[in-house]
Amino acid sequence: MSMISVKHLCKAYPNITPLKDINCEIERGEVISIIGPSGTGKSTLLRCINCLEHPTKGEIYVDGQNILAAGVDLNKVRQKMGMVFQQFNLFAHLMIIENVMLGATDLLGKTRQEAYDHGMELLESVGMAEKAFAYPDELSGGQKQRVAIARTLSMNPEIILFDEPTSALDPTMVGEVVSVIRSLKEKGMTMMIVTHEMKFARDISTRIFYMDQGLIYEDGTPEQIFGNPQKERTRIFIKQLKPYHADIKSQKFDFLGINSEIAQFMHKNLVPEHFRDASQRLFEELFMQCVLPHLPATFSAALDLGWSDRNLLLEFALRYDGPAYNPLTDTNNDELALLLVRKTAPELKHRYENGMNYLEVTLKTETK
Ligand SMILES: Nc1ncnc2c1ncn2[C@@H]1O[C@H](COP(=O)(O)OP(=O)(O)O)[C@@H](O)[C@H]1O
Ligand SMILES: [Mg+2]
Repeated sequence: MSMISVKHLCKAYPNITPLKDINCEIERGEVISIIGPSGTGKSTLLRCINCLEHPTKGEIYVDGQNILAAGVDLNKVRQKMGMVFQQFNLFAHLMIIENVMLGATDLLGKTRQEAYDHGMELLESVGMAEKAFAYPDELSGGQKQRVAIARTLSMNPEIILFDEPTSALDPTMVGEVVSVIRSLKEKGMTMMIVTHEMKFARDISTRIFYMDQGLIYEDGTPEQIFGNPQKERTRIFIKQLKPYHADIKSQKFDFLGINSEIAQFMHKNLVPEHFRDASQRLFEELFMQCVLPHLPATFSAALDLGWSDRNLLLEFALRYDGPAYNPLTDTNNDELALLLVRKTAPELKHRYENGMNYLEVTLKTETK
C-alpha cells in the first residue's frame, strides 16, 4: 500500500483551476521534488494533501485511508504530515524551545518535561541547540527555517511537505537548510518538496514531478527529468528557456496571428533575426506546406519555441495527433518546401509517441 495515493484530484477556484487531474502514488521513504513554473498549483497540491484546502473532486488516501471521506479526524491526519513553509511561521513572542515544544504539549498531550527533552534533542539535530532560549527575531532566515523543521519533527510526522523551504533565504543560508533536509533523507523520512533549486532537487530526490497545465505533466527519476525529459514543456523549463506556445486546432487556424506572435516573442526576447526567420520558415514550409494538408478538419497540434539567451539556441517543436506521419520522408511533399526545411534545420527529427507526432530541432547560432 502506498503511503499517499492521489486519484483524479481537481481543485477549482472561481477564476482558475490550478489542479485539473492529479494522479500520483508516494511510497514510504521517497523524496519527491515538485518543480514547475509558478502558478501551476504546486502549493495547492501540498495544501490539498495536508487538508488545508478541500479539493473540488478526486480522492486522497493516506496509509489507505480516504482523508476526504466524511467523519475523518482531520487533526489526526494532519499530525502524520508535517508542513514547512517558505515563511517559517514561528511565534515571535515565544522562545525557540517554546516554539518547538508547543505542538507536543498542546496537540500530542506530552508533559512539559517530555516536550522539552525531545525539543532539545531536535534542536541539536538541526544545529540550533545553542539558540534554544533566543527569540525568533534574533535568528537569521536559515536558522529560523531549521527551527521550523525541528518544530515539524516534534510532531513525529510520517511525511514532511516542504513548500519552497529555501525561497525566502539569502543565498548564503540555503546550504544549511539543504543539509538538514538531506540528513532527514538519510534517516528515511518521506518528503515532498516544492523547490526552485534545481541542483538540490536533482541531488536529493528519488523522483521528480514536473507540474504544468494542471497536471503532473511529467514525472521520473532525476536522471530522466533533468537528463532526458520527454516532453517539450518540461525541456523548456529544465533548460530555463523562454517559452512561446501556440495551440492549433483546425485547418482554419489564424496563421497570420501566430506568425506575428512569433515575431513579437522574438522581438521581446531580443532573439537574433536569423532565428526568427528560421522558425517562421520551418513553421511555414514544414507545417503549412507538408503537415497541414495531411490533417483532418479539426485536430490537436501545437507549436512550441524555447529561447535560451545563455546558450544562444532556439528549440523548435511541432506536434500533431493522428496516425504516424513523417513529412520529411514523404516524397509526395513539395520538393522545394522540403529542401528549405532541410537547409534550415538539417538535424530536424520526427518521432511518434502515444498517438502524437513530434518534429523537433534545436537551432544553434551557426544555423543561418
Ligand atoms: N485561495 C485561492 N483563491 C483563488 N485562487 C487561488 C487561491 N490559491 C491559489 N490560487 C491560484 O491558483 C493558482 C495556483 O496557485 P499555487 O498553487 O500557489 O501555484 P504555485 O505554488 O505552483 O506557484 C494561481 O493562479 C493562484 O493565483
Ligand atoms: Mg507556491
